[in-house]
Amino acid sequence: MKIALVGLGYVGLPIALEFAGIFDVIGFDIDQRKIDIASMGRDPNDELDPGAFVDKNITFTSDERLLKSCTIYVIAVPTPVTRFKVPDLRPLQSASKTVAKYLKKGDLVIYESTVYPGCTEEDCVPILEDLSGLKLNEDFKVGYSPERINPGDKVHTLTNTVKVVSGSDEAALEQVANLYESIITAGVHRAPSIKVAEASKIIENTQRDVNIALMNELSIIFDRAGINTADVLAAAGTKWNFLKFYPGLVGGHCIGVDPYYLTHKAIELGYSPEMILTGRKINDNLSKHVAKKAVNLISEQSVPVHDARVLVLGITFKENVSDIRNSKVVDVVKELQSFGISVDIMDPHAASSDLEASYGLSLVSEPRAPYDCIILAVKHDEYLSFDEDYFKSLSRGKGALIDIKSQFTTQIHDMLYWSL
Ligand SMILES: NC(=O)c1ccc[n+]([C@@H]2O[C@H](COP(=O)([O-])OP(=O)(O)OC[C@H]3O[C@@H](n4cnc5c(N)ncnc54)[C@H](O)[C@@H]3O)[C@@H](O)[C@H]2O)c1
Repeated sequence: MKIALVGLGYVGLPIALEFAGIFDVIGFDIDQRKIDIASMGRDPNDELDPGAFVDKNITFTSDERLLKSCTIYVIAVPTPVTRFKVPDLRPLQSASKTVAKYLKKGDLVIYESTVYPGCTEEDCVPILEDLSGLKLNEDFKVGYSPERINPGDKVHTLTNTVKVVSGSDEAALEQVANLYESIITAGVHRAPSIKVAEASKIIENTQRDVNIALMNELSIIFDRAGINTADVLAAAGTKWNFLKFYPGLVGGHCIGVDPYYLTHKAIELGYSPEMILTGRKINDNLSKHVAKKAVNLISEQSVPVHDARVLVLGITFKENVSDIRNSKVVDVVKELQSFGISVDIMDPHAASSDLEASYGLSLVSEPRAPYDCIILAVKHDEYLSFDEDYFKSLSRGKGALIDIKSQFTTQIHDMLYWSL
């Protein structure tokens, strides 16, 4: 049994390496840069320690011909949305075409990418069948097992989180379940169908998105009411059934994107998903709300907005990761720049070259004080030891702190302060 991992990103690489501790694995990716880095025993995304590569039976390659010798194909390619916020299935279709070329009787293809219910069977299987000339369940089997890893999270890992598995028939389900049981210590959950497994993943992220949207809306209301949202949530959270969600910018490639896969399917089925799309709209507009608050705090200090200088601490989409994809902090920066405000960005995890390539922005390595407003945008561990004295030392005059993640609610006394 030889396993091919198709797509070696945040999801594919850790799975490839786990399997490679037991089986013979081909790690395939179209990005030669990633292949070069992984071949040297390093994670291109800086998530895994070099130890994860030790004693692993894996060949990294961008040469698809090596897929020929495999019998199990695990596909973990991106599932983004287009600028019209509809699923962009091109990576998934392209990876399916590649695998179809090498598919043989008795093979198993498992999809890990996050998709809407029906995508595997309606969009991917026809590609596999058409190009290979083989028939699903007669000649080859298909499985779907959504990924639940949480980048930057050292507690909930691939192996200690229950994995949902599904298959195109009973035999496929058992084969997929047995395969993952060999690496997932927490065990697997056998879903009754591929569609159920697909839907389960998409609602995990949709649920988070909608709940955060509610918190963001509450935060806007409480701001107008002159009360602190963190205080309200601390009080309400003392009830046993109050759900612990917090306001914040919703970026990244999962929570802010996956709901559009579900809404696309809903619309296709003739239903207009009001709540999910409203939640998306609230979360997407939050960057403008934050930027507007910064402008208000600058004006309160009688600084002309076009002369103002702002320091943004943290540009990644979440804490303690280097990933800047779909970062909503970038939207805050661009909104501030549209007012003529000069913005410096610092981030100990992000790479300036990535920021430049993706957004035309760059990082500064040291603060270039003084600033009229500091925006603490991401809760990186490096920022936990900061205090008001430090923020004041970087400020011109009174100074203002925007504390998006409400880290310093009780600790700022002299500066102007606002949190979500
Ligand atoms: N990153 C996460 O935290 C996370 C968590 C759960 C689920 N997911 C889902 O998993 C999937 C993969 O996400 P990711 O974060 O690993 O993406 P990623 O962009 O980090 O990695 C995907 C990899 O696939 C490669 N690729 C693209 N097209 C290819 C093709 N045709 N053939 C071979 N390789 C190809 C890319 O070069 C890239 O290296 C997505 O559907 C995502 O929604 C991601």
